Amino acid sequence: MRTVTPFRSHGTGTPDPTRLRAHGQSLVIEPGALIFHPENIRLGENVYIGHNAIIKGYHRNEMTVGDNVWIGQGCFLHAAGGLTIGSNVGIGPNVSIITSLHGEEGRTVPILFSDLKMAPVIIGADSDIGVGATILPGVMIGKGALVGAGAVVTHDIPDYAVVAGSPARLLRMRPEQPKQLLPHQTSG
Ligand SMILES: CC(C)(COP(=O)(O)OP(=O)(O)OC[C@H]1O[C@@H](n2cnc3c(N)ncnc32)[C@H](O)[C@@H]1OP(=O)(O)O)[C@@H](O)C(=O)NCCC(=O)NCCS
Repeated sequence: MRTVTPFRSHGTGTPDPTRLRAHGQSLVIEPGALIFHPENIRLGENVYIGHNAIIKGYHRNEMTVGDNVWIGQGCFLHAAGGLTIGSNVGIGPNVSIITSLHGEEGRTVPILFSDLKMAPVIIGADSDIGVGATILPGVMIGKGALVGAGAVVTHDIPDYAVVAGSPARLLRMRPEQPKQLLPHQTSG
């Protein structure tokens, strides 16, 4: 039986923007949001962090968030394996992004005490993650992709794809042009 290291507190996570590695001028951190390892977190210009979101930096890898990014209420973003979020990304409430997982070292070693494997997640610019979705370690979400509510994303998602379900499957590709409105649908 391997020796188990006693658990240690991760601290309060009380946000202190001055401790972030970098952030833009316009930054909103709503009440209840927590930020861990701010020294390894870079936030771009105009970033919104919703109520009770947990922004879990890590002592090693970095979390990088682009410009004009909305992080919804109650999100859990974990950067153990490294997390990169492009610009103009919307992340709905209660989205989880995970970047590490425990290995399996046989049945005699509890999974909790197996070595951690790191697997970075990249969220492409202009993409949108629906409420309650889960993005699993090692996944790359393409530019402009749309992830449906409640999806569990286990594989890379191509640019401009719309995916949904658990595991997330391709529903369709986003159209290049806006849908043409019929005459009775226009306001003029
Ligand atoms: C995924 C999504 C973009 C699909 O929209 P759409 O292209 O208009 O798709 P439709 O509504 O025509 O549905 C197409 C099929 O996918 C299914 N589907 C749609 N959304 C789904 C979802 N989130 N999970 C599972 N299946 C879904 C529909 O039931 C339908 O299946 P069917 O053909 O068997 O009836 C949309 O449903 C969605 O989940 N948007 C996210 C909204 C959100 O969370 N926004 C964040 C707000 S801050």
